[in-house]
Amino acid sequence: MPKDSLSITDNRTGKQYELPIQDGAVRAVDLRQIKTGEDDPGLLAYDPGFINTASCKSAVSYIDGARGILRYRGYPIEQLAEQSTFLETAYLLLHGELPSAAELDAWVLEITHHTFIHENIKKFIDGFHHDAHPMGVLVSTVAALSTFYPEAKHIQDERARHIQIIRLIAKVPTLAGFAHRHSVGLPYAYPDNDLSYAGNFLNMMFKTTEVKFVPNQTLQRALDVLFILHADHEQNCSTSAMRTTGSSHADPYSCMASAAAALYGPLHGGANEEVLKMLREIGSKDRIPAYIERVKRGELRLMGFGHRIYKNYDPRATIIKRVAAEVFDVTGKNPLIDIAVELERIALQDDYFVSRKLFPNVDFYSGIIYEAMQIPVDMFPVLFAIGRTPGWLAQWQEMLLDKEQRISRPRQIYVGAGVRDYVPIEQRG
Ligand code: ACO
Repeated sequence: MPKDSLSITDNRTGKQYELPIQDGAVRAVDLRQIKTGEDDPGLLAYDPGFINTASCKSAVSYIDGARGILRYRGYPIEQLAEQSTFLETAYLLLHGELPSAAELDAWVLEITHHTFIHENIKKFIDGFHHDAHPMGVLVSTVAALSTFYPEAKHIQDERARHIQIIRLIAKVPTLAGFAHRHSVGLPYAYPDNDLSYAGNFLNMMFKTTEVKFVPNQTLQRALDVLFILHADHEQNCSTSAMRTTGSSHADPYSCMASAAAALYGPLHGGANEEVLKMLREIGSKDRIPAYIERVKRGELRLMGFGHRIYKNYDPRATIIKRVAAEVFDVTGKNPLIDIAVELERIALQDDYFVSRKLFPNVDFYSGIIYEAMQIPVDMFPVLFAIGRTPGWLAQWQEMLLDKEQRISRPRQIYVGAGVRDYVPIEQRG
């Protein structure tokens, strides 16, 4: 009769243990009983990079990396990208269910009416150097929001949590737009609450002398879809940062600044920026084979390729390829797309990539679309952050309401020196 348990024999002591298996996992803390003696603190699981460690139970998003599946709250990403809007998807992530028409209207209205930021925030954006990276500006200004809303620290108060969630979803595009305008020396463009979420973001990016900015419908929808595709991705690096910081009961602005900082790195949200640099460096299709050889020699990585979880085509990359075609109908074709498509074709025939199950990820094509929409490269991770905001907040809230969660505090295996006596400086060799 099969049992949901794991039998372990500790060959150091000959003792046997039986650990329960629940949801396909053993509890790491159950390993602690496995000891060689009284002084032994117990067996640890060693897992740098958390390759095989579940840090939480979550009902927000589901990924099957082997089959290339992504679902938010059970809904396939393909259906959401086709039929939903970003704000509806945000509601879904945060509430667990799709809204009714009345709930959606109220949600959109609430977010739309929190898009303005305090004028003082403009003052410190002004203080950044003219070429400050907008992601650095975003990380800092999101953190600064906590000083404007001191009640945000009441994280156990459902109403206080709700209003901070609304504010963050509403204000992050404004901070992003202002960061961009500062970097190009243009006056800030204020939110236009007549426009959709994505349309308003385009307004804050590109409005110049016109009385009213009218976003292109196709580009507005493409951006909305890109936000949907980035909205959540279970326990990735930045979401883990959000949860880890949140586990100390910091306010959501501080938590989100830490998540955005984690996103900034080139191995995570900075990858789409790196993809464009790479495609420009390659420059033409005939130079792809030589570039691939350099990757295979370990001199560099093919940016936008590979994923910790997907060992198949990233489903978001498939959708993005389709969106790219729609955008190019409006903007004209970005010539980098030809290099990208050829690079993908060659890589996917090469045993190096095939054997390591390295496929294009979401970042491989997103930057090419953003560039065609005239969005500068350094804004790419900022756009990722706008899209990921509801996911971070849904995961943060889930963590707070999860009775099993405690302050995040991993263990270590100490490999340093044993005890030794302090040597006064004059006696050191
Ligand atoms: N180019 C070339 N080789 C790669 C790449 C790549 N992009 N990614 C992984 N590999 C190779 C590694 O060298 C390694 O080979 P080896 O076994 O011979 O040593 C093997 O594939 C496994 O790679 P790991 O680094 O162990 O994989 P890991 O899961 O730790 O890393 C990551 C995942 C960080 C995404 C990695 O694939 C990468 O650096 N990709 C490029 C950056 C990128 O596109 N990041 C965006 C990720 S998606 C997102 O954040 C939205």
